[in-house]
Amino acid sequence: MSTATQEPTYNYRVVRQFAIMTVVWGVVGMGLGVFIAAQLVWPQLNLDLPWTSFGRLRPLHTNLVIFAFGGSALFATSYYTVQRTCQARLFGDGLAAFTFWGWQALIVCLLVTLPQGLTTTKEYAEVEFTGAVWMGIVWVAYAVVFFGTVMKRSTPHIYVGNWFFGAFILVTTMLHVVNHMAIPVSWFKSYPLYSGATDAMVQWWYGHNAVGFFLTTGFLGMMYYFIPKQAGRPVYSYRLSIVHFWALITLYIWAGPHHLHYTALPDWAQSLGMAMSIILLAPSWGGMINGMMTLSGAWHKLRDDPILRFLIVSLAFYGMSTFEGPMMAIKTVNALSHYTDWTIGHVHAGALGWVAMITFGSLYHLIPKIFGRERMYSVGLINTHFWLATIGTVLYIASMWVNGITQGLMWRAINDDGTLTYSFVESLEASHSGFLVRFIGGVFFLSGMLLMAYNTWRTLKAPQAERHALGATA
Ligand code: HEM
Ligand code: HEM
Repeated sequence: MSTATQEPTYNYRVVRQFAIMTVVWGVVGMGLGVFIAAQLVWPQLNLDLPWTSFGRLRPLHTNLVIFAFGGSALFATSYYTVQRTCQARLFGDGLAAFTFWGWQALIVCLLVTLPQGLTTTKEYAEVEFTGAVWMGIVWVAYAVVFFGTVMKRSTPHIYVGNWFFGAFILVTTMLHVVNHMAIPVSWFKSYPLYSGATDAMVQWWYGHNAVGFFLTTGFLGMMYYFIPKQAGRPVYSYRLSIVHFWALITLYIWAGPHHLHYTALPDWAQSLGMAMSIILLAPSWGGMINGMMTLSGAWHKLRDDPILRFLIVSLAFYGMSTFEGPMMAIKTVNALSHYTDWTIGHVHAGALGWVAMITFGSLYHLIPKIFGRERMYSVGLINTHFWLATIGTVLYIASMWVNGITQGLMWRAINDDGTLTYSFVESLEASHSGFLVRFIGGVFFLSGMLLMAYNTWRTLKAPQAERHALGATA
């Protein structure tokens, strides 16, 4: 116990490490996003080399933003939240350090293998067998650290944020293990145990729940800690948080088939996936409403607190993408949207608007605390970041809506004699200006990320506040 604060001493070292790497990987992953967006505008940027081609760099982008940027953010915030809300130091300092170095090693493995084309070809599960086994080991260590801390808590109950983090950790383990079942034939090549439609179903059961549990449930855990903290208000409804938690995790797991409409998957499975996706709107909005209403009586804070603005606007984008998702899951709508840029716009409404923005807000709250600083170096820069991120996201999504609907309509247009009205290349030409607007949106978003990196660096260089206020060791 620290005599100054009567709080247990916390392990902030690992939180600091993951927080810094979130910023670093954010710059790299989004920088790559902007580069591949530029390749779609100016194909010469593929540079005629296999490892700089769009096909190789695209999975690197998705893996870096999801696992390196998003993953590091989840490690940092869950380790911080679980300690603060359980009033207990992290279980196993050595194991926690292992999760940090082990996770970074995995990212280096992705950086080396994916540009070489060493991939399982399964989206978001591209890492080959050896890397996947390593990822599994690190993840189990993470589970031990997290649940070990919950077990040794000195508070009577488990705060709801930890329920979300806990579900995200458990379900990700299950998804990862099942989808990576394969027969390795060498260190860098393996073949999946499943084949045909079964393989596709397992992959999209994984893929959709990677979105549901990695990119949503974990970030809801973040939301449940950082919004009440930043707003200085208790969560709007504890009961709603429990109800939407159980509804969310029960429903998400069934929605995967909406990625396989009109395929060889049995029709009943497609319809079941569609129905579950539509019902999923309710618990998703339950979470959004709970977060937003936490601001009841404190809305005025939005006027001069850009951190709170990040957090609340992220919820607005969460609400928007979880409205759009169920609509796209309806088979007749999916017949238009599937394979088009509409899906890409939906992805980034969630990824930029929700995942990245809630991360920015949470990190701006977290960084001064874990580094023992009064506050971030510049509130003005946070505000500029907020506007760059918001405008960038809107440019990205709007251009992809226009492109997506244009593509969908052009592909289905048929002449009187039954022939196609447009060739694929014509639809590609029609998409060019949308690709350019998306690139500009990406540049906005990336510029904001660079401002964050600068602001963080200056914050770390500023003189330290009183050490005991940290309640931390190491
Ligand atoms: C500066 C920001 C970003 C830019 C410019 C960008 C750009 C891109 C581009 C050009 C693609 C390929 C689209 C295509 O194949 O037509 C893509 C795919 C993707 N990006 Fe990003 N991205 C950014 C940030 C992010 C972030 C922060 C995340 C996640 C947290 C993310 C997740 C994804 C995913 C999941 C895909 C694959 C989508 C699919 O297969 O449907 N991106 N991104
Ligand atoms: C109620 C919630 C949601 C539902 C029902 C839903 C539904 C859908 C549907 C129908 C698709 C298109 C499938 C296709 O035509 O191939 C899709 C794609 C996608 N969604 Fe969502 N969505 C939801 C929320 C989100 C959120 C919050 C995010 C991000 C954080 C997200 C990320 C993605 C990604 C990455 C893809 C592209 C997958 C791929 O093809 O690579 N979704 N979603």
